[in-house]
Amino acid sequence: MIKLAVFASGSGSNFQAILDAVKAGMLDAEISLLVCDKPGAKVIERAAAAGINQFVFSAKDYASKSHFEAEIVGQLQARKIDLVVLAGYMRLVGDTLLSSFPSQIINIHPSLLPAFPGRDAIGQAFRAGVSVTGVTIHYVDEGMDTGPIIAQREVPVAAGDQLSDVERKIHEIEHLFYPEVLQKLARRLSLA
Ligand code: GRF
Repeated sequence: MIKLAVFASGSGSNFQAILDAVKAGMLDAEISLLVCDKPGAKVIERAAAAGINQFVFSAKDYASKSHFEAEIVGQLQARKIDLVVLAGYMRLVGDTLLSSFPSQIINIHPSLLPAFPGRDAIGQAFRAGVSVTGVTIHYVDEGMDTGPIIAQREVPVAAGDQLSDVERKIHEIEHLFYPEVLQKLARRLSLA
């Protein structure tokens, strides 16, 4: 069984979807750790309710990114984490973490990258008037949503859609798509 660490900063609906897929036997993996950089975030309650180990920190308590990432790397190595799963982790990953887990960090982004990287991707796409947007799962590199793409799924924007409709459709797809792609990666890693 491969070991996942999920990183999140906010609500954690994707964290929940991954956890539910594990519980339902649809994802052959274990969530060994939640890493959260926002004390008080809802995702912390979700992890606590499921009895999942957590590492919660505030960046301001550390001298620099490399200092808190060194502590995170220690936690990941101690728990023998195979894959780092970013799910709404609102920070750029730095060298300390990237160099310790090369090609083992993935992210989900709510647009069809390379279109609309960065914050508020759903709003960016909506305001641009696209008729199709979507979800991208990609490896993480030092850039903002720039790493190699693993998989994408389209989400149509209908003529009468409000921003909230598009957000709902994107999140529905994310919650199915991330566990599916993780299961493919888990199978690949456990066969390797
Ligand atoms: C998702 O839309 C994800 O694509 C983006 O951040 C959002 C996280 O939402 N990276 P949640 O915390 O999983 O509900």
